Amino acid sequence: MKGSFPIDKFEGLRTPFYYYDTYILARTLQAIVREVERYERFQVHYAIKANANPRLLSLIRQSGMGADCVSGGEIEAALKAGFPSGRIVYAGVGKADWEIDLALRNGIYCFNVESVPELEVIDQRAALQGRRAKVALRINPDVGAHTHANITTGLAENKFGIRMEDMEQVIARARELEHTEFIGLHFHIGSQILDMGDFVALCNRVNELQDRLEACQIRVEYINVGGGLGIDYAHPDRQSVPDFRSYFSTYATHLRLRPYQTLHFELGRSVVGQCGTLVARTLYVKQGAKKQFAILDAGMTELVRPALYQAYHKIENLSSELGMQTYDVVGPVCESSDVFGKAVDLNEVRRGDFIGIRSAGAYGEAMASQYNCRALPQAYLSEDFL
Ligand code: LLP
Repeated sequence: MKGSFPIDKFEGLRTPFYYYDTYILARTLQAIVREVERYERFQVHYAIKANANPRLLSLIRQSGMGADCVSGGEIEAALKAGFPSGRIVYAGVGKADWEIDLALRNGIYCFNVESVPELEVIDQRAALQGRRAKVALRINPDVGAHTHANITTGLAENKFGIRMEDMEQVIARARELEHTEFIGLHFHIGSQILDMGDFVALCNRVNELQDRLEACQIRVEYINVGGGLGIDYAHPDRQSVPDFRSYFSTYATHLRLRPYQTLHFELGRSVVGQCGTLVARTLYVKQGAKKQFAILDAGMTELVRPALYQAYHKIENLSSELGMQTYDVVGPVCESSDVFGKAVDLNEVRRGDFIGIRSAGAYGEAMASQYNCRALPQAYLSEDFL
């Protein structure tokens, strides 16, 4: 056994697979609960998109969080895992009628609405069911985040949300509709954010918009600031639990919450990122003209983040204590972007060695594909090996 990986028990398992350390997950969940309890009116919804593994969902649900969903499938997964429907929020720029119907039928807490046409469709679908849908408007706050361009969402150029200039007008429309109840505002500026200053900028924007609402005598119960807290990809062991204290206290300090309001968060990556490792085996070590390659049996099909966002994941040889050598670590998929890392220092790699790609709990298994007719990866929890 190397580090905290029971690799002797990995023998005989089909690779690649996801390995989730439930001890890390439990510590992360405890840290969230502990920090949230300091503030009376904070509520966390787990962003299911980060990882919808049913066994993880069940552990997360037991911690008392609600769920943040972006599709009908995610609403079904949340309900199946036992998340109370009254703690489910539903966002997304393109909600289909059947998804809206499903959400209405199950009495979810709130739709985070991204456009006027969507608002009108929700009103019509709610009328058909004889219900009233609670809606919040997702406002594009035009706040940049210091993160990868593909995962910033709160800039004016992004497809998400309603323009700030249009806010009062869209609220007026929402209030005209008979089958919707306007309850608040929703925001999300991006993901993998480590600079608390970005969240401060969001708080300042929310404060401005709240002042505008008050100027029109509009009271809302619900403010949702989305997710986005990042994790330490470089040091998964040194910082296996993200700094939730700074995160929540930033909002407590900078966002002027009214006494009748609840502040909602939608955390994904920071909940599950560090507990997951993609475990692969080395198929071949190949000497190229200038470099040597470690060719794994896992590829971009199991973890697409390096190929899609040039994301860094720490890579470790779990089987070897030999001297360090430098490798390009690549997968078997027929794409040149199927590379997990270039010039990576690893304990000398031999065929059959287990390689761990760390911090892969968020947007790993959830984004796996079957490209090249590959099978979706299996997943194990640490407790399966006790
Ligand atoms: N709320 C909304 C409205 C979102 O769009 C997202 C993520 C979250 C919450 C959760 O954000 P988190 O706490 O996980 O940062 N696949 C990309 C990340 C995409 C994030 C999409 N939205 C990646 O692998 O980095």
